[in-house]
Amino acid sequence: MRKPIIAGNWKMHKTVPEAVRLAKQLKVLVSDELKGVEVVLCPPFTALYAVAEVIKGSGIQLGAQDVFWADEGAYTGEISPVMLKDLGCHYVIVGHSERRAYFHETDEDVRRKAEAALAKGIGVIACVGETLDQRRRGETEAVVRREVRAIVEGLELNDPGQLVIAYEPIWAIGTGETATSGEANRVAGLIREEIARWLGGEAAARVRIQYGGSVKPENIGGFMQEPEIDGALVGGASLDASSFAQIVKF
Ligand code: 13P
Repeated sequence: MRKPIIAGNWKMHKTVPEAVRLAKQLKVLVSDELKGVEVVLCPPFTALYAVAEVIKGSGIQLGAQDVFWADEGAYTGEISPVMLKDLGCHYVIVGHSERRAYFHETDEDVRRKAEAALAKGIGVIACVGETLDQRRRGETEAVVRREVRAIVEGLELNDPGQLVIAYEPIWAIGTGETATSGEANRVAGLIREEIARWLGGEAAARVRIQYGGSVKPENIGGFMQEPEIDGALVGGASLDASSFAQIVKF
């Protein structure tokens, strides 16, 4: 059985005081749900330490939004997996479409980040998904398979529970549009098939697949009823304690 995982990607939002306030509110609102669902908060780097202090011992997990692959060195502006581990991060998001689009991250970069984080015992939430043009051209399956393959081919994965793939169709991010739950489930199934091809069926059955893209309290239930979808990566609606708590209670 795969434990559902709901993660809030705060993106470039929240000062430290704002982040602390949100984390404190969430701690109260979701405490009863944590047996049945893994809840991960991914604040910006600047608020990780403060949020870690708030959620310590609560069962809520801490995630970062990106990582570099080297342990340390002359990489101005970058943050290493060792540093994230030191802060108590359980997860890190890699390959978000905003990083691929605005910061030119390649499939190879995403793979190196995922490998480096896993090697330090940090769970990885790796994002994949097609643009609207790619969808219109009928390329969804090819794009998603290519991105998944880049992450998993030859990957040493001791604990498949440490890998989460977030299917985020780019046209559904921040737009209010969502894939239908049936379509999201179909693509999640293709993702699992691709993982099985490279890591075997047993591992694939344990990797969790999230849907992301305009997830809200009103639509989370539909996604969570789908057999291949094990959770959600939530952007906008994770910035409000009550909305995110309702999503966690799907
Ligand atoms: P929204 O929920 O704001 O559409 O963002 C989705 C996302 O990109 C999460 O990583």
